[in-house]
Amino acid sequence: MIEIDQLRKQYRAPDGKVVEVLKGISLTVPPASITAVVGPSGAGKSTLAKCISLLEQPSSGSIRVNGEDLSRLSGEALRRERRAIGTVFQSSALLQRKTAWENVALPLEWLGVVPAEIKRHVGQLLESVGLNDKADYYPAQLSGGQRQRVGIARALALKPSVLLADEATSGLDPQATSSILTLLKQLRDQFGLSIILITHEMDVVRRAADALAEIRDGQLLQQGSLSELLAQPDSRLGQQLFPLQPLDAAGDILLQLTYGDRPLATDWISQISQHYQLQIDLLAAHVEQVGERLAGRMRIAVRFTRRPVSQPALIQHLYQLGINAQAIEVRAALQEAG
Ligand SMILES: Nc1ncnc2c1ncn2[C@@H]1O[C@H](COP(=O)(O)OP(=O)(O)OP(=O)(O)O)[C@@H](O)[C@H]1O
Ligand SMILES: [Mg+2]
Repeated sequence: MIEIDQLRKQYRAPDGKVVEVLKGISLTVPPASITAVVGPSGAGKSTLAKCISLLEQPSSGSIRVNGEDLSRLSGEALRRERRAIGTVFQSSALLQRKTAWENVALPLEWLGVVPAEIKRHVGQLLESVGLNDKADYYPAQLSGGQRQRVGIARALALKPSVLLADEATSGLDPQATSSILTLLKQLRDQFGLSIILITHEMDVVRRAADALAEIRDGQLLQQGSLSELLAQPDSRLGQQLFPLQPLDAAGDILLQLTYGDRPLATDWISQISQHYQLQIDLLAAHVEQVGERLAGRMRIAVRFTRRPVSQPALIQHLYQLGINAQAIEVRAALQEAG
């Protein structure tokens, strides 16, 4: 569990002026969950990562890991508590002259762990990232994705409760990205890790995140669980993840639908069309499994085949089936119908 409260970070720019790069960020990542941090270049994501991993001292605010405020510690206490946070960066800086096994063993050796225990633990770590058979390979003999796995195994060596990944999948091909994301989700569940995943790839967010925090200019712009954000009809995240192009279409009612925050009647199309004798045309749609639920964002054109249906009644009915509907356009003549 990591709780970041009102975190501020100021830097002195080259011209001597003080610039505030983080302007009061508050973010909580519970155990066994992945929060993606997104935002444009220069937003302050890596600065946030450096403050969390205590490579940089925050100007103010607090960072609590399992209740302990790390931003107030120094010296030996800081070094000890810092172990609670494992970090993985883009090109995980592995030592080129050491094998995968030796790289993962390093943090344990620095801590003075006895060799027999190191041997056992490194074996387990390599197994948990699926690299048992590559223990004796040097970084140059591994693929980018495999190197990243070694970096993750090393980050896990000191049994952290928080894993911080800054652009951990950047530069990897889709397959390697996929396998790293699967691994992170597995580690989340296996070790109950609080994972902070900094990324600029929305695809990564959609596939791995339980929650999302978007920062811009050092401030939090939106924050929440992925399924809740996706299900909000006017959510920026929904538009970013599941973009729908504006489209002209014939129909009596044009609706934009979002779902994913509540249980869904998956047969809603047949239920609605039978109940009201409607024809439903799907104009644009994204439907995907997000976490436990199906999340969807779509535009539909509804055509009356028997008699006009009141739009509020239709929207209310959809709501009961788990769908948030918003009218995009209603033909004036039919507005009063029903
Ligand atoms: N040591 C420093 N001194 C002064 N300004 C800094 C320092 N480090 C970072 N900054 C400034 O903080 C801002 C945020 O940088 P940061 O690296 O956190 O962005 P980011 O969101 O990670 O961007 P990217 O997506 O490109 O990695 C930038 O405008 C940068 O110039
Ligand atoms: Mg960065």
